[in-house]
Amino acid sequence: MKRFQSIVVLSLLMMSSWAVAAPQTPTPPVSYKTDVTPIIHDYCLSCHEPGGKGFEKSGLDMRTYASLMKGTKFGAIVKPGDSFTSILIQVVEGRVHASIKMPYGMSGGLAKDKIGVLKKWVDQGAKDN
Ligand code: HEC
Repeated sequence: MKRFQSIVVLSLLMMSSWAVAAPQTPTPPVSYKTDVTPIIHDYCLSCHEPGGKGFEKSGLDMRTYASLMKGTKFGAIVKPGDSFTSILIQVVEGRVHASIKMPYGMSGGLAKDKIGVLKKWVDQGAKDN
């Protein structure tokens, strides 16, 4: 009996570790406040607020959700649900032009996982969540 119990325990343990390793679906929603804001704060805001050179040149103020959604002096940079055509994603991926890859002048550019967060947020509707 003791032996049987330990086999049961062992197989339960194996099953639970398998469950942890399995891909988790559906993907949890990305939050503007807890996931996106820290990236903007660390990598964009120093230039994209009044007085910063990114703001002076493009008009893009990234201090708030509203100002981010307003975009540059040429218009919106976020198209909710469509990361492929959103300028915000194009510039961090360096898809527009090497000279306007953001963060401006940062060698290597933004880390892939951070770009992934921004992309997911846009694809999930760019909500103020
Ligand atoms: C070191 C300063 C600096 C940092 C940091 C920076 N930017 Fe910029 N950004 C600029 C400048 C300068 C321009 C204007 C570039 C130009 O028009 O030549 C600009 C322009 C832009 C534009 C407008 C592009 C267009 O269509 O003309 C977007 C969008 C943008 N930045 C997004 C970001 C994002 C997102 C981040 C953070 C991941 C970021 N920037 C970080 C300086 C910066």
